[in-house]
Amino acid sequence: MNFTNMLLFLSLMLVISRIRFTNGQECYDSSGNFTANSTYGRNRDLIFSSLASDVKANGGFYKASIGQDPDKVYAIALCRGDVNSSSESDCASCINSGIQDIMSKCPNQKLALSWGSAGLLPCVVRYASSPIFGRMELDPFSAGYNTGDIRSNNLTKFDEIWEGLMVRVVTKTSHGSSKLKFGTGEANVTLFQKIYALMQCTPDLSQQVCEYCLYQSLSYFQSCCYGNQGGYVLRPSCFLRWDLYPFYRLPIAETPL
Ligand SMILES: *[C@@H]1O[C@H](CO)[C@@H](O)[C@H](O)[C@H]1NC(C)=O
Ligand SMILES: *[C@@H]1O[C@H](CO)[C@@H](O)[C@H](O)[C@H]1NC(C)=O
Ligand SMILES: *[C@@H]1O[C@H](CO)[C@@H](O)[C@H](O)[C@H]1NC(C)=O
Ligand SMILES: *[C@@H]1O[C@H](CO)[C@@H](O)[C@H](O)[C@H]1NC(C)=O
Ligand SMILES: *[C@@H]1O[C@H](CO)[C@@H](O)[C@H](O)[C@H]1NC(C)=O
Repeated sequence: MNFTNMLLFLSLMLVISRIRFTNGQECYDSSGNFTANSTYGRNRDLIFSSLASDVKANGGFYKASIGQDPDKVYAIALCRGDVNSSSESDCASCINSGIQDIMSKCPNQKLALSWGSAGLLPCVVRYASSPIFGRMELDPFSAGYNTGDIRSNNLTKFDEIWEGLMVRVVTKTSHGSSKLKFGTGEANVTLFQKIYALMQCTPDLSQQVCEYCLYQSLSYFQSCCYGNQGGYVLRPSCFLRWDLYPFYRLPIAETPL
């Protein structure tokens, strides 16, 4: 690592440590419980046992169901679009941390979700006792922001550029395929300031539904966290993050917006 990279790395660590992420899992107590040795429990264990490798084998997104009603388990797993889905250390470890998270905190709920224990590298693990494929789920959600204020001598101009970028990345993300709905983008504010954004939907959603999920998240961010210099909104069906430094890996074939 040369000196410039080292400085960049250290400054990224400082910024990262200032972002506050909540612990990302949710057990739905009202949707019914199962007992440890029930058919439902065994189906859940079965689907979990191969989920990380199934996601890996399917390029970062996997959905499947196991069993017969009323013990049928539906599961969805999604890795972030810029992580190497065939690398154990990125995608699979996030999925496995999500599974561990659910197993320890939601031992008998029929419905649960985790974004992985490392909120900075979100992935989605969800399961339910009723169909979830192709259906948007907005709740529960988790949002947070960078504690620094936006430093700009013209906030109106900053907001215009921010909004323009968000609209472009929503469009790019929602127009993805049925295997990947992911987008990143950058916009120059000044010579020395850039905004970076990353968005993703579970790719089983249609273009319109993905767009809707992301706009709901943007408008929530504006209501909770406007004026902060970065942040994120995680939902079961989509997530977004933006900041003033490049926090994602650029895809190899990335075309600048
Ligand atoms: C399910 O179990 C949890 C505790 O693990 C409990 O709080 C909840 O009320 C139960 N829900 C139902 C519907 O029985
Ligand atoms: C589940 O099954 C195992 C082995 O069959 C048994 O040891 C355990 O007591 C059972 N647990 C419950 C809660 O019934
Ligand atoms: C992804 O990870 C696999 C396994 O670690 C590696 O062989 C491959 O070169 C990586 N791909 C990229 C684009 O980094
Ligand atoms: C701030 O930016 C807005 C929009 O680009 C522009 O109309 C306005 O004149 C700028 N204000 C100042 C004080 O530069
Ligand atoms: C942003 O600014 C850099 C130079 O600082 C320039 O190379 C790049 O083309 C600009 N990007 C856009 C989208 O205007």
